[in-house]
Amino acid sequence: KKVVLAYSGGLDTSVIVKWLAETYGCEVVTFTADLGQGEEVEPARAKAQALGVKEIYIEDLRETFVRDYVFPMFRANTVYEGEYLLGTSIARPLIARRLVEIANETGADAIAHGATGKGNDQVRFELGAYALKPAVRVIAPWREWDLNSREKLMNYCETHDIPVDYAKNKKKSPYSMDANLLHISYEGGVLEDPWGEAEEEMWRWSVSPEAAPDTPTYIDLTFEGGDIVAIDGRPMRPHEVLSHLNKVGGENGIGRLDIVENRYVGMKSRGCYETPGGTIMLRAHRAIESITLDRESAHLKDELMPRYAELIYNGYWWSPERRMLQAAIDQSQHVVNGEVRLKLYKGNVILVGRQSPDSLFDASIATFEDDAGAYDQKDAEGFIKLNALRLRIAAGKGRTHE
Ligand code: ARG
Ligand code: SIN
Repeated sequence: KKVVLAYSGGLDTSVIVKWLAETYGCEVVTFTADLGQGEEVEPARAKAQALGVKEIYIEDLRETFVRDYVFPMFRANTVYEGEYLLGTSIARPLIARRLVEIANETGADAIAHGATGKGNDQVRFELGAYALKPAVRVIAPWREWDLNSREKLMNYCETHDIPVDYAKNKKKSPYSMDANLLHISYEGGVLEDPWGEAEEEMWRWSVSPEAAPDTPTYIDLTFEGGDIVAIDGRPMRPHEVLSHLNKVGGENGIGRLDIVENRYVGMKSRGCYETPGGTIMLRAHRAIESITLDRESAHLKDELMPRYAELIYNGYWWSPERRMLQAAIDQSQHVVNGEVRLKLYKGNVILVGRQSPDSLFDASIATFEDDAGAYDQKDAEGFIKLNALRLRIAAGKGRTHE
């Protein structure tokens, strides 16, 4: 009996290592990934060893994460409930995939995670795992044990010889946080009152718009096939793009968000997010699409987007319907090439220019000056009249106001 655990190296998942061994008498394999959360992952090795773990996986998945998950999602201009850029949601399918692959490699029959029974993350991990390994067993300790307070967890550590960094735990953040290259999130604590403003000290990735520089920062983003491939003319790999944009975005107070969202399990939850790079990417991508995409393709994408966002939020990345939508989205992106110029200023992402070899924008048609016969204004009369036909027929029957 063997189980692969998504292990952060923190207190909670360290307790889970011992608890799994004790409760299920199974061998535990740990998996720790660098997704750009900004904390070293290597220390997780010594911690896992100290807990008696023999098979320890530590992986740098930053490039895969951005190239195969974040970028495909941004091709759709994905936003959940009008606001949330899905920073946590989009990381879960990759973690689920690696848990399952490691289970297959090590001959484990189960996976485990440290998400609670109240949230979205449990759903995302488990839907992913079942989709990729139908017979997998899932162990979610938070749904089973009664260690539901910090004090009980600490006691468990004492009685089970789990080394705890007490200093670190005393000044432990009062929030439930999750971070990767796309965002950092804060939930719980004082945020549970949706009327209460988040304190300035909470935000870790960005300065406040008030404290941002008084001079704007200009950047040029180069797109190829809907993805950013260079910044200011300098070619970059996907994860480098995102970390660069996080830096300049954060410095200019960009990407803070405070929302109440609907969790899949049914409750409303208040969350604060910092997504500096993602906020810039979304604006820039829409801008490059504005000159390269045909109107109807663009509008169809906008109709499909909320469905696609909901699929990702709810944990259905590894589903046939997500793959269908992805194929449609990706098909539209071959022409999404070119450059966007932006001005970052005190929390704002201001579009100042866009150009593309695949641009459909035709100044000779759109011009307010003489268009030399490119567009015959007389054609518009018939266009409007035929479109008005059914309105005129109805009006003729007296249907003008209902
Ligand atoms: N509410 C967000 C979501 O569902 C963020 C979840 C944060 N997860 C965490 N384990 N702290 O995607
Ligand atoms: C959790 O419950 O583990 C975090 C919140 C969420 O998954 O939505």
